[in-house]
Amino acid sequence: MDKRFAVVLAAGQGTRMKSKLYKVLHPVCGKPMVEHIVDEVLKLSLAKLVTIVGHGADDVKNQLGSKSEYALQAEQLGTAHAVKQAKSILANESGTTIVVCGDTPLLTAETMEAMLKEHREQKAKVTILTAMAKNPTGYGRIIRNETGIVEKIVEHKDATEAERLVKEINTGTYCFDNEMLFEAIDQVSNDNVQGEYYLPDVIEILKQKGETVAAYQTDNFQETLGVNDRVALSQAETYMKQRINNRHMLNGVSLIDPNNTYISAEAVIGRDTVIYPGTMIKGLVEIGENSVIGQNSELENSKIGSRTVIKQSVIMNSEIGDDVTIGPFAHIRPDSKIGNEVRIGNFVEVKKTEFGNRSKASHLSYIGDAEIGEDVNLGCGSITVNYDGKHKYLTKVEDGAFVGCNSNLIAPITIGKGAYVAAGSTVTDDVPGAALSIARAKQVNKEDYAKKLHKK
Ligand code: UD1
Ligand code: CA
Repeated sequence: MDKRFAVVLAAGQGTRMKSKLYKVLHPVCGKPMVEHIVDEVLKLSLAKLVTIVGHGADDVKNQLGSKSEYALQAEQLGTAHAVKQAKSILANESGTTIVVCGDTPLLTAETMEAMLKEHREQKAKVTILTAMAKNPTGYGRIIRNETGIVEKIVEHKDATEAERLVKEINTGTYCFDNEMLFEAIDQVSNDNVQGEYYLPDVIEILKQKGETVAAYQTDNFQETLGVNDRVALSQAETYMKQRINNRHMLNGVSLIDPNNTYISAEAVIGRDTVIYPGTMIKGLVEIGENSVIGQNSELENSKIGSRTVIKQSVIMNSEIGDDVTIGPFAHIRPDSKIGNEVRIGNFVEVKKTEFGNRSKASHLSYIGDAEIGEDVNLGCGSITVNYDGKHKYLTKVEDGAFVGCNSNLIAPITIGKGAYVAAGSTVTDDVPGAALSIARAKQVNKEDYAKKLHKK
């Protein structure tokens, strides 16, 4: 196989998005458009990948990191001018160069492989990936001669009425003989309605030189969707969501209402897990088997075990074990590590806390900066008082301890192994293991005093 290179065009401003966020960084199912396409292109066994950056260059570089090399297009003079910026990195190479746009997030490696196959079989110098669009407005049109051979691509704005009737569009994805590409690109002019150097003009230039120009038409228009505005962005979101959700369902995950279930591209979910509507799974989330993720839950960058039930809850950057129940209405904040068979119940907030196996905080608690041992019971309304306005302090509750309802544990503090804290206590000092701590005012009953009050 000859060497393969790729150029991702990502320097344009994206004016039609009407956004401060640079176009190719707009997320689709939580992942920036440009990263979707870069990840697909990387599956093509490339020798080099160059991303052309301009607007928001630093942000794009930060996002993609070492996945790509970069070339700067300081002024956005068009797609041909953009490709030209890769010259110093690619011009001396021989092989095949794939060019894709950073705003086509749905394109798959399989389709690009099919285009590359056609390119090889036709012994072409350039092969265009085309598609049939119901509404081709805005796209470049593929102009073929009477025998069906591609002659050129005409941009929508430059097209005649007759040309605009053509439904076959340029998807903005091509593969070129690398040397031919960089030779022809110097001959592209900006004599057109937009005054830009169009990459598609390379086709006509190569054609006129008598080189073989081929086209591979995919029957999947969805995949080639170019996102120029927020209407197309929402379409991309819908298609990507379908693709991701179908993959999970075919892998054995039940989605009760896939139209209302939002799963990131990176999530990994085990078999027989059931996900109820309104759930958002963001970033790197891993869920085991036979778990139930209840309706309207939000999970982000977290690991959830097997047979765990999460109802109407929010979980961020945390790890949850097996056979755990969480919620309804619990909030597990970053850096929490919840063991197995733990119960975190209604209206419980947990932050930066480790929960040992079989421990419980079933109702109305705040547990922050804490290490909770195994088999601990934190009664209803238990609060770790972890913050004095300046610093955060650690609360330790050792194995088998029982904290009664409505207790304040003023950190730093340790409740020893098997100790009891009486309900309503405000505990300021360590409680030794096996002790009972009562830290509340003693009850006083004044006989018949209420009668006096009633008389008033
Ligand atoms: C482009 C194609 C059009 C095709 C469509 C497919 C051209 C002239 N037109 O049109 O035939 O049907 O894609 O979606 O190529 N970019 C740069 N530098 C620039 C200009 C653009 O890097 O100077 C990048 C953009 O960031 C974008 C991509 O190139 O990712 C395409 O640019 P865009 O302006 O979206 O082109 P379209 O009008 O969609
Ligand atoms: Ca576009």
